[in-house]
Amino acid sequence: MPFAKYNIPMSKTSSKWVCQECGHASFSYLGKCSECNSWGSLIEEITYKKSGKSNQVSSSSKFTLLSKDTEQNIERIKTFDSEIDTVLGGGFVPGSLILLAGEPGIGKSTILSQLAGHLSKKLKVAYISAEESINQVRLRLERLKLSNKEQETNLSLLAENNLEAVLNLLENEKLDFVIIDSIQAIYHPDIESGIGNVSQVRECANKILRFAKDKNITTVIVGHVNKEGQIAGPKVLEHIVDTVLYMEGEKFHNFRILRTTKNRYGCTDEIAVFEMKDDGLKTISNPSYIFLSQNKEPVPGSTYAALTEGSKSIICEVQALIGSTTYTTPRRMANGLDYNRVLQIIAILERRVGFNFSKHDLYVNLVGGLNSSEPALDLAIAVAIVSCKQDVIPEKRTVYIGEVGLTGEIRQVNKTEQRIKECIKLGFERVIIPAGTEVSKKLFNEIEIVSAKKLLEAIRSSLQTITKTENVNQ
Ligand code: TYD
Ligand code: MG
Repeated sequence: MPFAKYNIPMSKTSSKWVCQECGHASFSYLGKCSECNSWGSLIEEITYKKSGKSNQVSSSSKFTLLSKDTEQNIERIKTFDSEIDTVLGGGFVPGSLILLAGEPGIGKSTILSQLAGHLSKKLKVAYISAEESINQVRLRLERLKLSNKEQETNLSLLAENNLEAVLNLLENEKLDFVIIDSIQAIYHPDIESGIGNVSQVRECANKILRFAKDKNITTVIVGHVNKEGQIAGPKVLEHIVDTVLYMEGEKFHNFRILRTTKNRYGCTDEIAVFEMKDDGLKTISNPSYIFLSQNKEPVPGSTYAALTEGSKSIICEVQALIGSTTYTTPRRMANGLDYNRVLQIIAILERRVGFNFSKHDLYVNLVGGLNSSEPALDLAIAVAIVSCKQDVIPEKRTVYIGEVGLTGEIRQVNKTEQRIKECIKLGFERVIIPAGTEVSKKLFNEIEIVSAKKLLEAIRSSLQTITKTENVNQ
């Protein structure tokens, strides 16, 4: 009996559909709740009957005293890549359950195949594919140059989507690391709802969690998300697992970003950047290079900004384009940037610097498919817009760092020194930072550092000729 095996002292008796808005329960699925009339809010919930034993304390449960005798140095499992280790907070914690989420086709199976291939050199690894056949998994491993037919390997492959069968098979293997690809394609025969439904996904994840903890086997499950991050419940899964890894990237760009959004064993602000090549994902230790445009000659409407992700700084290019509008309300578009921040910067430029954009469509883009809503990008956005509007080339090899306040002041941002160091590394000659920022004297010898208090001041020092600014209100 699988439930007993994984210490779940229950057996399923029935299921009901519960409205997530008002709590009304129905015995069948309804598109619209008959009580509160909300659409698509019914989710299947499974009711378990308590077995006779459930009130008894399991004999294996006991208190552990937190004393020197019980102190253990948990050795983390290092991956093939130090960047992935950093994202995980130093490697995988043995016995933890990790969710790797991302849109279909982003490269989840690729990175996990690479992980399985490398880890199996020292650990016993199982790759369970519920989506692909053994041959497909093997072909991928061959493509990644990770399958060695001559040598004995510690990597076992299994193509199966019945979780009960999978757990029974895993029971008899002495494994260190298990990968289940994917949670949406797996089902447990005791749960009646369809493959990929929220209840099926949640219950399967709970059983895998029990398995990982009881056997102390590090387990990674794959979860697909759509653009809205909603489909088939990775949000539900986030509560169950110890660590959530997100793999992001743009369809039309080759770079991928791996980040943690939840980590019970480490911080969550580190990222690793990869490039998808023909033979798998390759780490990019200096990501700034891929996000800078190939166009080296400075042009109106293009500036450089420095954003940060954990201990990494990335220099990227911000571009602005202005055209006269054919609409009654002019169009504003922000690609890779926060739309509302861009609107706010336009309002500040109008009110505090004196520009008028009411007859202009305005497009702002963060080059390379990057996404950031960091306020530190404000200054670069503002200068790019003005530079395009005035058709003036901004100062060469200059990076803009600073948040723009509603009164037109430039506000300090965090990690300014870290950002400046990245500018130095990439050979930039000048950096404009908020006035009052403390910067170590050493940096002044390596790059020209200009402090600006007000937006107009920063614009004046960056654009060689400002032809005219109407009504300067500062
Ligand atoms: P995949 O890992 O199957 O995505 P997911 O599991 O997230 O759905 O990767 C899909 C894409 O990656 C596919 O379009 C092919 C491409 N790819 C490469 O470019 N190089 C490679 O070495 C591999 C294995 C895949
Ligand atoms: Mg896949």
